[in-house]
Amino acid sequence: SNTFQYILTSIEGPLAHIQLNRPNVLNALNRQMVTEILTAMEKFDRSPDVHVILLSGAGRAFAAGADIDEMATVNSTDLELLNQFTDWDRIAWIKKPIIGVVHGFALGGAFELALCCDLLWAADDAEFGFPEVNLGIMPGAGGTQRLTKLVGKTKAMEWLFTGARITAKEAAQFGIVNKLVSKEVLMEEVIKYALTLAKQPPISIRYIKEAVLKAVDHSLYEGMQFERKNFSLLFSTEDQKEGMKAFIEKRKPDFRGK
Ligand code: CAA
Repeated sequence: SNTFQYILTSIEGPLAHIQLNRPNVLNALNRQMVTEILTAMEKFDRSPDVHVILLSGAGRAFAAGADIDEMATVNSTDLELLNQFTDWDRIAWIKKPIIGVVHGFALGGAFELALCCDLLWAADDAEFGFPEVNLGIMPGAGGTQRLTKLVGKTKAMEWLFTGARITAKEAAQFGIVNKLVSKEVLMEEVIKYALTLAKQPPISIRYIKEAVLKAVDHSLYEGMQFERKNFSLLFSTEDQKEGMKAFIEKRKPDFRGK
């Protein structure tokens, strides 16, 4: 049974499958669809029978990005209040492995969704890219961060500045995609692979995923920026002045928490 409007879900053995399903608009991701993806993922994450989650698109694409019709009329303060991208953060908290299965376009928000997956398999017709710049915006659901961590600064800048399409071959070459398969047998091959993954010890897989994501999430630079900001902020406190003054005056400081 399917209770969702914009996605299809199914379970077969240890594999759960989520399929983006607005094929008449190339599965453009509206907010409702993103909520549905999350709801389904969290449900599968809790289901003890599910070991691996597959995510793919119905029709001729994975998805062509966020729904531009929905975005066209919002302003900054609408977006800030909506706070829609906190939903996306929850995708990164799914504990079970997610395999993205991409054919055709995976652009903008859909590329961001693909980058949230743990493993990516793609058809040789897959095309990735961040065309946001050509709409006068930029990626907002983690694209600048996830792509850069994956491929490094040089290629990330190039692709993000121009919105250029990344072919399936390039995506494989730069480690965005784990495996390229011809379109006709893509799903069949992914299922075979996912079934072997489903036989691995689930707790190991869960903890490995968590540890790898930690390694990706916490960069030295990010930590240092945070440290630096807080370091500077402390120079606005009275306790800093008191502490240093006391040192120079060779006496014990009297800290007030101000
Ligand atoms: N939003 C809304 N509708 C979209 C869409 C989108 N992102 N992408 C495609 N569609 C619709 C088209 O309007 C068209 O609808 P109609 O048949 O009613 O006219 C239908 O899907 C089929 O698309 P095309 O006729 O354009 O198909 P094509 O094969 O000629 O071109 C394409 C395919 C190059 C992907 C083109 O559709 C396109 O450029 N789409 C927009 C891509 C884009 O800019 N995505 C980024 C969105 S911004 C974003 O994602 C922000 C973020 O980070 C959260």
